[in-house]
Amino acid sequence: EQSSSPSASSLESRTPPYAKLLRNLHEVRRLLPDQKLTLAEKILYSHLNENAEESLLTNTNGGRDVRSKANLKLFVDRVAMQDASAQMALLQFMSCGLPQTAVPSSIHCDHMIVGERGADLDLANSIDGNKEVYDFLESAAKKYGIEFWPPGAGIIHQTVLENYSAPGLMSLGTDSHSPNAGGLGAITIGVGGADAVDAMVGAAWELKAPKILGVKLVGQLSGWASPKDIILNLAGQLTVRGGTGYIIEYFGEGVKSLSCTGMATACNMGAEVGATTSVFPYTPTSHDPYLAATHRGPIATQANAIWSSPGAHNLLKPDEGAEYDKVITIDLSKLEPHINGPFTPDLSTPLSAFKDTVKANNWPTTFGAGLIGSCTNSSYQDMTRSESLVKQAKAAGLKPKADFFVTPGSEQIRATVERDGLLDTFSEAGSTVLANACGPCIGQWNRTDEVPKDENNAIFSSYNRNFPGRNDGNRKTMNFLASPELVTAMSYSGSTTFNPMTDSLTTPSGESFRFEPPVGQDLPGQGFASGNPIFAPDTVKPDPSAEVIISPTSTRLAVLEPFEPWPTTSGAPTDLTGLKILLKVKGQCTTDTISAAGPWLKFKGHLPNIAENTLIGAVNAETGATNHALDADGSAHTIPDLAKKWKSQAQPWLVVAEHNYGEGSAREHAALQPRFLGARLIVAKSFARIHETNLKKQGVVPLTFVNEADYDLLAGCDEVATEGLAAALKVGAEGGDISSSAVNLLVKKKDGSTLRVPLKHALSKDQCAFVLAGSALNLLAKRGQA
Ligand code: F3S
Repeated sequence: EQSSSPSASSLESRTPPYAKLLRNLHEVRRLLPDQKLTLAEKILYSHLNENAEESLLTNTNGGRDVRSKANLKLFVDRVAMQDASAQMALLQFMSCGLPQTAVPSSIHCDHMIVGERGADLDLANSIDGNKEVYDFLESAAKKYGIEFWPPGAGIIHQTVLENYSAPGLMSLGTDSHSPNAGGLGAITIGVGGADAVDAMVGAAWELKAPKILGVKLVGQLSGWASPKDIILNLAGQLTVRGGTGYIIEYFGEGVKSLSCTGMATACNMGAEVGATTSVFPYTPTSHDPYLAATHRGPIATQANAIWSSPGAHNLLKPDEGAEYDKVITIDLSKLEPHINGPFTPDLSTPLSAFKDTVKANNWPTTFGAGLIGSCTNSSYQDMTRSESLVKQAKAAGLKPKADFFVTPGSEQIRATVERDGLLDTFSEAGSTVLANACGPCIGQWNRTDEVPKDENNAIFSSYNRNFPGRNDGNRKTMNFLASPELVTAMSYSGSTTFNPMTDSLTTPSGESFRFEPPVGQDLPGQGFASGNPIFAPDTVKPDPSAEVIISPTSTRLAVLEPFEPWPTTSGAPTDLTGLKILLKVKGQCTTDTISAAGPWLKFKGHLPNIAENTLIGAVNAETGATNHALDADGSAHTIPDLAKKWKSQAQPWLVVAEHNYGEGSAREHAALQPRFLGARLIVAKSFARIHETNLKKQGVVPLTFVNEADYDLLAGCDEVATEGLAAALKVGAEGGDISSSAVNLLVKKKDGSTLRVPLKHALSKDQCAFVLAGSALNLLAKRGQA
């Protein structure tokens, strides 16, 4: 059975608005007349809409220094959300009172499904255990016209590649590996739920214009080397922070030899080097067949026409002579397979050196499990290449020595490899085929082999991330990342020092066996199979009569109440008075410190319950203890307990902190929770950029010290008022220049002495308006009702 085509209206909603984007690109050319643009710049800037002039020409030296200077206000084409982050995104969207999303959006139920005993059993158990969350997501999707991909339909990034990504598209995904879609020539950025809400309500989404890192590919892959090895090698060169502030843009002759899905793998793992996103150029030889095979031939026709059009207005090619901030060249002909890890994706070792590296580091010489598939590596090409090795081993009478798991990325790929006999090959070899979901990749793996918790052990996966504890919750498990074909071959030896390119195995009959290099097919000859229709997404028409299902007694979901607006007198904002310092934090304070993950993740849709973890990782600068706060009467509390006590007494508060407050991730809970418990200000030596924005969106004002040493003067339970902040907010919201407005903290110490602490703010016009309204969503809701 061939996979079915999307309906005409759904195909239309999946086609980038090319006519509009080309008009916008024309305007960008007018504003930046002399510049040679990279592909990423063309796609990004053509999503500026009517504010292109303000975005490109403010603070940019007349448009000459757009990168890392311009504040881009982008209107994205679509949004995709995974089930864990979709909960808070939808709860926030609901609080705006809009009847439907402003851009096509989709929900993908993939993160909450375990991998243990195989797809059928695991899926049924996971659906049972998460029913109230799935019911909520499905009912909200129905009401607001969002495409809902139920549990078992597939992993977000694979489904997006197969259905939504398209050349020239710009989209947001609420997951860090969303850049996977760049394999099909799209700019797709991983964000937190609050950013996704911006797009869903039709507001501009802000991004500091990234720098562009060019990766020039020359030569051609062959033999054991695979697209995964491009990014494993690049991660080693760049390290986990080397891509920060950059978009990685691939170019060069070598691109032509890659499959669309191989390009997606490289883009997926760009997240491991901190890149904003990654993108490959539209490549008709790879992308046209992929779009046709996934029933989007008409999109390929339009993309081909744009791609072959001349010069300046070609949206899908970088300009001749486009400048990159940095260029790294990779010769695919010389690229060796790589193995990255343990514990960090940038510890990259070529296969030929791995044996010695294992010995030199005293890493385990055996490994217990090989896992292939996931959102990163479950394409038809990956599966056929891996299967070719399994068939060779089977003919030699061999069975894998390590436990072997296969995770298909989507129902489409699962049904196709089932039809084409690959699943039988894998199953006959003794592998476990897991549900089309994240499973072991996100720690949803109830490992059944006996592994002592206090001894190092190793596993090999074709996934993308390998932080300690990531897969099986055991921080002693060393997770090595490699291509699926390498993981497959190595699983037959169970030895970390086995090099399938040079070493032999002994067959049961005592003969020597060496693998031939893997071979595969980019796309299935008979087309993709559609799979079980129960996994197809629901209709996308909004249904205003649908009821969003949230049980009032739920412990996992709670409707969001709007936050109270900024205080006013006779309609004019007034300065804050009577605040108290909840805590002075010492040292690093990440989003994990502010809102811990692990077991708390199940409360992501229930703000009061997840707020119980607020700042539990923070170190009190005065007592040196973690999760320790003192009330004015000297009583000791956990931090969330004191915050809750003060909330019940209507006592607003602030936190004082050191450098880079809120570093780590885009987790909006780290801003929502303090706000929910009564925080109005965070005063720090400096902030992480994304968290600073998130705070303002939730109506909490981030302020930095003019003199960092003033941090030492403040203490828990000091009484605080602001001076000059209300005036700055008012003028700022009206569009006035507040860049040099003086803002002070008036502090009353416990001994009755007072001091004035000068502070800086970085509030834009929009952000002043958010803060005055109580939150960005309050403002949007107000505008929606006006
Ligand atoms: Fe899921 Fe792991 Fe990918 S959690 S989205 S399979 S990175």
